[in-house]
Amino acid sequence: MRNSANEYIPALKYNRLTAFYDPLIRWALREDTFKKRLIEQAGIQAGQHVLDLGCGTATLTLLVKRNYPASAVTGLDGDPNILRIAAAKIAQTGLDIRLDCGMSFDLPYASESFDRVLSSLMLHHLTRANRVRTLLDVLRVLQPGGELHIADWGKPQNAWMRAAFCLVQILDGFETTADSAKGLLPELMREAGFEDVQQTDQFATVLGTLCLYRARKPGVKV
Ligand SMILES: C[S@@+](CC[C@H](N)C(=O)[O-])C[C@H]1O[C@@H](n2cnc3c(N)ncnc32)[C@H](O)[C@@H]1O
Repeated sequence: MRNSANEYIPALKYNRLTAFYDPLIRWALREDTFKKRLIEQAGIQAGQHVLDLGCGTATLTLLVKRNYPASAVTGLDGDPNILRIAAAKIAQTGLDIRLDCGMSFDLPYASESFDRVLSSLMLHHLTRANRVRTLLDVLRVLQPGGELHIADWGKPQNAWMRAAFCLVQILDGFETTADSAKGLLPELMREAGFEDVQQTDQFATVLGTLCLYRARKPGVKV
């Protein structure tokens, strides 16, 4: 259910389902495979600042820090309930990861403060207007030449994938997921001002076609 004060849809729509999020995603979405692929394509270097946007239970956030211990990793989510789960998971590892509660379209960070922004399964939770605002704010917080790496629902590869995606649409809303079903995310990224926008991979899952994308902020870091 959309939280009217903060404008976010919880991971599985209803707060009481959040506890089941990790096992469901692990089972349904080949989570380990696509999140590892996303991290590989991000090419994170030692010392870089990385933001996991809409980090949820911090599975991707933890994977980044484990794979690149010399990077500075931050996870941000709009849902304080899921951040409690994320914080407990991080505490078990003892890894140094910052967690912030905030909105993707009103990021609580200074301009040009991240080298990489990664985001998994978050953008389809937003209305078109908030998706555009989010892409513009990501552009703001990235360094010139910094990169955005996204894993999210894309244009279904075939009729089976289109039918499977209906379940996500019922859960997360038809309005918020319409751009994903039409494969419009790359176009929205270009319109926001990103360059070198590409779809890099796609995965057939029981809930539809999951796509990986990359995009770069114009300019060169000085
Ligand atoms: C489906 S979950 C994905 C979580 C995690 N990234 C993953 O891959 O497992 C979507 C997450 O985005 C968060 N979210 C939705 N809208 C948001 C917004 N406008 N700003 C920040 N977080 C948001 C939700 O609270 C939820 O944790």
